[in-house]
Parts: sequence; structure tokens; C-alpha cells
Amino acid sequence: MRLKLTSEEKDMLDGKQGRSTQKSMEILTTLGEIFDAECMIEVYSVQIAGVSYANLGEAGLEFLGEMAEDGKVRVLTTLNPAGMDRENWQALGIEKEFAINQNRAIDTFAKMGIITTCSCTPYLIGNAPHFGQHIAWAESSAVCYSNSVIGARTNREGGPSALAAALTGKTPKYGYHLDKNRHGQVLIEVKVPVKGTDEFGVLGKIIGDKLVELGKKIPYITGISSATVEELKSFCASVATYGGTALFHMEGITPEYNMYPKPRDDIFEINQDNLNKTRSDLIDDDIEIDFVSIGCPHASIHEIATIASLLKGNKVNKEFWITTARPTKRIADEAGYSKIIEDAGAKFAADTCCVVAPIKGRFKGIMVDSAKACYYGRAKNKFKVKIGTIKECVKEATI
Ligand code: F3S
Repeated sequence: MRLKLTSEEKDMLDGKQGRSTQKSMEILTTLGEIFDAECMIEVYSVQIAGVSYANLGEAGLEFLGEMAEDGKVRVLTTLNPAGMDRENWQALGIEKEFAINQNRAIDTFAKMGIITTCSCTPYLIGNAPHFGQHIAWAESSAVCYSNSVIGARTNREGGPSALAAALTGKTPKYGYHLDKNRHGQVLIEVKVPVKGTDEFGVLGKIIGDKLVELGKKIPYITGISSATVEELKSFCASVATYGGTALFHMEGITPEYNMYPKPRDDIFEINQDNLNKTRSDLIDDDIEIDFVSIGCPHASIHEIATIASLLKGNKVNKEFWITTARPTKRIADEAGYSKIIEDAGAKFAADTCCVVAPIKGRFKGIMVDSAKACYYGRAKNKFKVKIGTIKECVKEATI
């Protein structure tokens, strides 16, 4: 075995620091051996996914309960969205039994010292690593954002490996933690202006689909002159969903784009026709929209301000959710945006989202500004879907 452990890590593995720490180190050393890691590294923070009771079930809760018996996190650890808004679940139509079970899961995470923020945008609410820092995150959109936009380093962790990293403060050094695995593999030349969260999501689907076709993982993208945080988070969610991408480089935008050689062998161009065709793939025929949701990934305060300005003085006529992190909702409360949005009849769904909430089959057609939400709206919740700009989504909700 190549994996070398420090004396502290050996003590963890031998059970000298408690049963949960031992179990965690067993998980991490197994991973390290499979991926031929030389050693463990310390992580700055952890993001845990698979938080919804709908994903966990009783088997997942049992595992968590065992880990929580003597386990305490050693680094900053945050949670992905849960299956409901913890304060407002009744107004969103969530069953009481589900709410009780969801709270059991969140309380178990809290017992281990995990911050129960329940958001897929931890980087917007304080779990914000800097360039080059090693982290252990689950949640594909956040992994892609942290690796690519921030330049932090993480593999796509699963639920157990992320929890194990939190309880030990370590992760095996392999994959995206190493320079040699961070080079761009295919050159994507974007020959058309791209703007808005919806269009960046469409671009993410085109690139993701192409990567799957080519069997490549890391695109090097040129031709994007500017991109906001919101556009990049939408792009990350989409390219991770459709292409399994955990890292991309974008010339002039992301911090590592000029650290490695530009790929020259595989070159793919994206033009207006590609954008139009893929957008139309994200709009189902004969859709009857009875649900609008913005905030996949979780809405930033900037997006909430935009929604408030569009809704001011209007009334919504359809179920309309704004999904966001609770700390972001609190800022919206203080800024007066929440009152405008709620007076219009729209609802905040903090801590959760239109994908992880147990709403399968409850609506016929959903309109979103997110290509990722289109994918899961169809695949998981069996809705017809339509993508549009934030402005078009708000307009649809108020018709
Ligand atoms: Fe986040 Fe839910 Fe979308 S977890 S990325 S809002 S599917």
C-alpha cells in the first residue's frame, strides 16, 4: 500500500480518537487506496449533500445516528438543501410526517457540530475557501464552482466520504487535489455572446453533452467576455449535471486558465444555432405551467433584489417559489425585498429547492431559469419544463 499515514492518522484508524473517527478514517483510507493516494491532506471545509429525508431514508438516518454518537466535526461543515423549508414547510404543502423525519436528520447533523445552513451555495454564505485551498465538498454544482471559479481543490465527494472528512479534517490526496489532474482537455470556442443565468445554463448543457460524447472531463472555454457570479453558478450547475464536470477553465474569467497548457487536439465551436437548438430542447411541447421556481442553485441576494423589483406592485397567479439559503433570506428580510415578494403572493422556500422537496407529480409544468432544474424537473419530479430568463419567469408567474 502506497498510502502513508501520520501518527495522528494512525491513531484515528486504530480507534484511539473514538469510534466515529475510526469509521471515518476507514472510509478515507479505503478511498485513498483505491485511488492510489500517497497521503492525506488537511481540508479547510466540508459541504455535505444527501440531506433530504427523501434521499436518506431510515437507513441513512441510522448511519448518521451511529456517527453522531461520539463524532464531532473538526472543520467548518455546512449542509446541502433539505427536503423542506424548516420554518415555512406547511405553507409549501409538505406533509407533517416528512417534516418530523427531516428534522430528525437535521438535528443529527447539528449534534455533530455541522452548521445547518441547508444550501447548495455555501460559498455565498460563509463557507468560502480561497484559491488553492483543499476542501472536501459534495454537491456537484458547488464542487464545480469551488474548483473552477474560486480555484479551491476538491473531488466530488459522496455523503459518507464528505462526513468522514468533516469528522477527521482530512481527505486522501488524489484527483483534483493534484496539479496534474487539473489541465483542460478539450478546447471549447464560444463564438456567440452569452448572457443571463438561463443562457449560461443552456451553454452548460451544450458543453456537458459534448464532454460526455467525447469522454472528456475538463473543458477549456474561450470567447466569454464577462460573467457574473450568478451566471457562473448557473453554468456550473448545468455543466456538472449534463457533463459530470467538476472543473473547467474559462479564459480571462477563472483563476487557473493560464496555469496549464491550452488544449489543442480536440476543438469544438459553439454558435447561435447551438444555443437556439439546446434552448428549444429545454422547453417541452404543450406545457401548461402551474409552478414557477427561481433559485437553482440557491438564489443570491442580487437575484432576490431583481425578483423584488420585477414583482413590486404585481400579484402572482401561480405557485411561485424563490429557493435560497436562510442567511440570504434574512438579508432579504432586512432589505425589505421579502415583504415585496411575499406581498405579491410569491413564497420563499429557504433550506430547500424545487428538486429535493418531495413534490413529485404535484405540478404539471414548471418554469425555471436553470438548465439543471429542467433536467431534474423532468427526471425526478415528472414535470414538463420550460427555461426562460428571470424576467420571463416572473412574467409567467403573474399572468
Ligand atoms: Fe441546488 Fe437544488 Fe439546484 S440543490 S443546484 S437548487 S437542484
